[in-house]
Amino acid sequence: MRIKSSINFIYYNSMVNYKDLGLVNTRDMFKRAINGGYAIPAFNFNNMEQLQAIIKASSDLRSPVILQVSKGARNYANQTLLRYMAQGAVEYAKELGCHHPEISLHLDHGDSFELCKSCVDMGFSSVMIDGSALPYEENIALTKKVVEYAHQFDVTVEGELGVLAGVEDEVVAEESHYTQPEEVIDFVTRTGVDSLAISIGTSHGAYKFTPAQCTRDPQTGRLVPPPLAFDVLDAIMEKLPGFPIVLHGSSSVPQEYVDIINANGGKLPDAVGIPEEQLRKASKSAVCKINIDSDSRLAFTAAVRKVFAEKPGEFDPRKYCGPARDLMIELYSHKIKEVLGSDGKLANCD
Ligand code: G3H
Ligand code: 13P
Ligand code: ZN
Repeated sequence: MRIKSSINFIYYNSMVNYKDLGLVNTRDMFKRAINGGYAIPAFNFNNMEQLQAIIKASSDLRSPVILQVSKGARNYANQTLLRYMAQGAVEYAKELGCHHPEISLHLDHGDSFELCKSCVDMGFSSVMIDGSALPYEENIALTKKVVEYAHQFDVTVEGELGVLAGVEDEVVAEESHYTQPEEVIDFVTRTGVDSLAISIGTSHGAYKFTPAQCTRDPQTGRLVPPPLAFDVLDAIMEKLPGFPIVLHGSSSVPQEYVDIINANGGKLPDAVGIPEEQLRKASKSAVCKINIDSDSRLAFTAAVRKVFAEKPGEFDPRKYCGPARDLMIELYSHKIKEVLGSDGKLANCD
């Protein structure tokens, strides 16, 4: 018994290097993205269907891709299973004919050194330490500690400066939320981060702006959100020429999915996201990673609700998760090809 438990201890505590799983860090893909005027998609996933859809779309289109896992997703999926899912994703990409995939496994919104370390030790190729809610000096100290650990294993690190606006805020575009360009050189230099997430008016979730913050399109009656603060982005790029910038909260909340959800028993009134033209514009700049989670959730939910409404007798998960996966493949392909422009951008597209 004792021997068995110590073997288990060694097994479960042994480090996994992402390179052995066939993954890559984000350094090279970001460099090429900035020089090439496109952005790498960072798609959050929690389950097999999302992962299958991400790999199918990115492999078919020969796009580098970041598989993004939040703390909640890691708890939901199980960290050991996740490591093998990422390794399986690399093999699946090859099986799809993409012989040199560039896939990163990235921790989204890491909130402690211990969580980041655990991900580095378990095969992640990139981590985010989100100290944006901390006082400036504490954000620097925590971020630097994560960088020092991660860099020993050639794992790249994303830090964040500025607080993403929440829809609960009175004024979404309040200046104080934005990243302050005067801080970025100091932050990047003292922490050693590989990329910087900034706040220029995006926010998480399917309600990025209140109706009061938007205007209405007179023809369609749809909400039209206020523009992102591109002047702040420009000022940051001027301070940090050629440095990789990250945009969180970049779902567009496609109205066709919202309509399907609402027409089939759902309730998402006035859900609104970031218009695609703005993301296209950002992709051409030093923004080289764009985070998308909510759009995938909406596609999944729309497809499942439709099946349930049309076929109330259906109870085979493959019959509703399958259509959800198909719709997500369509969504991810659209993002890659029509919005971020990362298709055909693998170093080796064979
Ligand atoms: O930025 C947050 C992501 O959308 C992840 O959300 O914590 O519910 O997994 P989650
Ligand atoms: P969305 O909620 O806009 O998809 O943002 C996701 C995100 O930023 C994950 O870190
Ligand atoms: Zn985020």
